[in-house]
This record gives sequence, C-alpha cells and structure tokens, in this order.
Amino acid sequence: MRLTFVTTNVGKANEIRSLLKTFGIEIDVYTIKLTEIQSDSLEEIATRSCEEAYEILRKPVFVEDAGLFIERLNGFPGPYSSYVYRTIGVAGVLRLMEGEENRAAHFKSCIACKISGDLINLFSGICVGRISNEPRGSSGFGFDPIFMPEEGDGRTFAEMSIEEKNAISHRGKAVRLLAEWLKLMR
Ligand code: IMP
Repeated sequence: MRLTFVTTNVGKANEIRSLLKTFGIEIDVYTIKLTEIQSDSLEEIATRSCEEAYEILRKPVFVEDAGLFIERLNGFPGPYSSYVYRTIGVAGVLRLMEGEENRAAHFKSCIACKISGDLINLFSGICVGRISNEPRGSSGFGFDPIFMPEEGDGRTFAEMSIEEKNAISHRGKAVRLLAEWLKLMR
C-alpha cells in the first residue's frame, strides 16, 4: 500500500517525508488546496479535509492540520494559524505579545488518515514551548522563527535541522503514531 499526503505546504511535506523514511515508509505528495472548514477543532478540520482528499483521489490518503496556541492570547491563533500567518504574520504575533511576561505556547498537529471504507484514523501530537522575543533562524516555515520548544536548548524551530525539529515537534509526534499504526496494518 502506498500513501498519499495531500497538502499545499512544502515545509510540512518535507518534514513528514523525511521522518516516515526513517520507518521505511515512502509517500507520494499531492498538491491541491482542500476546503478548510471553520472550526475550533483541528480534529474536525483534518477529518473533513481527509474525506475530501479521499473523494478526489480514491486511494489511501492522509492530511495534516496544525496550529499555534498561545496561552496569554487564550489559545489564539489556534486553528486559524494559517490565516493569521498570511495576514499579520510573525511580526504581528510578536506585536500582540509585546511586553508580555507569560510567553507559554504550544503547537498541535492532527493527522487524519483514510485507507478505505468509512473509517478515518486520527493521530495527534503536541509540542510545548515559548514565544521568543524576536525571530531567529531561517529554516522551517510559518511560526518556526518565534517558537522555542521546551524540550530544546533555547533555539527556535527555525534554528534547527529538519531532523532536530522532527525529534521533538508536534508533527513529529503525530507522524510517529501514524507510522506505528501503519506498521501494525502491514
Ligand atoms: P494548516 O495546518 O495548513 O492549517 O496551517 C497552520 C499554520 O500554522 C501554518 O500555515 C503555519 O503558519 C503554522 N504552523 C503549523 N505547523 C507549524 C510548524 O511546525 N511550524 C511553524 N508554523 C507552523
């Protein structure tokens, strides 16, 4: 069985492809913009996107939906992270956090996978950390330059290699759960 990851985000695709490879799992990446419903739940968004992807491709697919949840902003931007990134961006989020002592935040990733039939399997991962005072680093994508994971050494995700980020990231955790489940299915 060969799985197709449906996304328009090259950064996500690179991270996921690189990590799944270490489990001996090769994937295809298919680029189409799926409808992203408005919901407070990443699980619901990922489930609906996965259903749409499966309807279009009619073969084993998975999608991933992720968001940055900032404690001081009551979880904003959360499921609206991609809109916020496109509108106010990293600089806008830093402005909202100006002078804030509490910089706690977490990323959450939710993968939805459909092999066949009616069943959709969900795999989630969370990475706890802090919002930095200024952007640092040039690798990765999105809010990587301003997120310092707690499990790390003070560097932002954008200052890490793809392998270092995958070892501790929300997406890395969700992908490892997917990989373990796929191995059970073999
Ligand atoms: P979506 O999952 O495509 O809805 O996008 C969520 C948005 O959150 C992305 O456009 C990024 O701006 C941000 N995001 C999600 N995951 C990450 C990550 O691992 N690093 C940095 N930003 C992320």
